Amino acid sequence: MKITLHLTLLLAIATPMTTWADSENGQELHDTDCLGCHGTEVYTRENRTINDFFGLKRQVSMCITVTGKGADWFPEDQADVVEYMNQSFYHTKE
Ligand code: HEC
Repeated sequence: MKITLHLTLLLAIATPMTTWADSENGQELHDTDCLGCHGTEVYTRENRTINDFFGLKRQVSMCITVTGKGADWFPEDQADVVEYMNQSFYHTKE
């Protein structure tokens, strides 16, 4: 029990140092807050509007505002969602 707790704490401390952004957290946030107006199909449709990393960041930021929950999102959360979306759908270079 104690060992498990220590390992969990260690992982929690070590994780932010080893990765830039946490795409699992991003996926969770995305699935909770972002599927109210559109599904993931807008990210992969042929005439999608986003084709570079900067554009993706900008669009995610705008869409966070329209969810009305922007005040709950830390900048890290936004970076995590961008990372998740870039890995899963957009594959742009940062
Ligand atoms: C209040 C409605 C609404 C919510 C909630 C919403 N979006 Fe959007 N989103 C839109 C609309 C409208 C578009 C434009 C769709 C179109 O062009 O057909 C869009 C488009 C996008 C695109 C661009 C798709 C492309 O063409 O490549 C991305 C990326 C995106 N949203 C991300 C998000 C993320 C991330 C969230 C959660 C933070 C989110 N959206 C939540 C309304 C919303």
